[in-house]
Amino acid sequence: MSTLPRSVLVVGAGGREHALVRALQASPARPRVLAAPGNAGIAEDAPCIPVAADNVRGLVELARRESIEFVVVGPEVPLSLGLVDALLDAEIPAYGPKADGARLEASKIYTKEILQKYGIPTADAASFASADEAIAYLRSRPAPIVVKADGLAAGKGVVVATHHDDAEAAVRTLLAIPARPDSAEEPSRILIEDCLVGEETSLLVVVSGRDYVILPTSQDHKRVGDHDTGPNTGGMGTYSPAEVVTPALWDRIDREIVRPSVDAIASEGIDFRGTLFIGIMLTADGPQVLEYNTRFGDPETQVVLPRIESDVLELLWTAAQGNLADYTLKVRREHAVCVVIAARGYPDAYPKGDALVLPANLPDTVSLYHAGTARDSNGQLVTAGGRVLGVAALGPTLRAAVDQAYAVCDQIECRSKYFRRDIGARQLQRHQP
Ligand code: AMP
Ligand code: GLY
Repeated sequence: MSTLPRSVLVVGAGGREHALVRALQASPARPRVLAAPGNAGIAEDAPCIPVAADNVRGLVELARRESIEFVVVGPEVPLSLGLVDALLDAEIPAYGPKADGARLEASKIYTKEILQKYGIPTADAASFASADEAIAYLRSRPAPIVVKADGLAAGKGVVVATHHDDAEAAVRTLLAIPARPDSAEEPSRILIEDCLVGEETSLLVVVSGRDYVILPTSQDHKRVGDHDTGPNTGGMGTYSPAEVVTPALWDRIDREIVRPSVDAIASEGIDFRGTLFIGIMLTADGPQVLEYNTRFGDPETQVVLPRIESDVLELLWTAAQGNLADYTLKVRREHAVCVVIAARGYPDAYPKGDALVLPANLPDTVSLYHAGTARDSNGQLVTAGGRVLGVAALGPTLRAAVDQAYAVCDQIECRSKYFRRDIGARQLQRHQP
């Protein structure tokens, strides 16, 4: 194995990137870790340089100037804008797919074509650029039905419509979303997909060509309200492991979904080196792919990385170098949970700039991962985004982790504080007689 990098730049500004910074700093190789642009919490752990995550040229220049030996890219937008292509052209090693691989997240229609071409289990679907044709099609399918924007939409591009009328409204809204972040002219397209019923699980897979390592399972809570009510969000909380994925189901998912997906991507001529995040619905007919993302999940990363005993720097570096074939991952037995503290009103309009007071002392088992936080002109920590921070805890049982995390959530002071009270509840209920 090649020597590990001595300096690492993490690109992004969310809780996922805060967790990545901490995991990389924990490497026995003790790398210097920087973040761009980072946030107020990351700044307490690592130098943050104010270069935006979508400023491809600025990030390449920053990496050169700081003699960065390895860049780990968090969010999807820079990946689809070709940040990794630009870094590799500048001979700066990077973790994350190039733009061709990032298309698997940036276009849901492209992904659906790949899934269908390689016979990977997924819901039946059809794509449209015309509202009239889309509506005629959806009227021919049973409700509920799912309408998806083709392109990146920051978690707002999917509507699971209970009735045909809601689906029609969604067709018009989603066709108005630009096709790509850098192109207002390209016509938008949408995907209309049959609704799958079951429990969801998030599978993060570190991929390097045809080799891969499946990270611990997790489950997200997408809806804003308790008991999965209200609109979808980027994710309101996670736990790991997701015990609904039994060892037998893990093997089936690996055989029917992960191996065929990795092979399909390689067969399409994509040299994918990064995280393939497979959203899976566990239906009565078996596991089916909801979507691919081509990055770590947020807030999945905040529960998955703390459960990895192996050196995360070594894992990501080995994947980026194309040497993953003989890699063995070591995982901790503990359970992890992350409760997202959001600004009340998210995912719609929410206030910014509210003072945020965090507990002075935290139990060793609890970590705060900042997302939308900033410092005002007086140095006071304030809210600066819809998802403000994640309270993550590790414990010998999920119950212990959940109790620790919620005790800290209750101590956080902020006028607009909002969080779900039921993160992990489904798994906890399964254990009850
Ligand atoms: P996606 O971004 O495609 O994962 O969609 C976001 C969320 O919408 C998923 O996590 C599911 O909760 C829901 N969803 C997406 N596709 C379907 C489907 N075909 N059936 C039911 N729910 C879906
Ligand atoms: N938590 C879901 C995502 O990162 O897309």
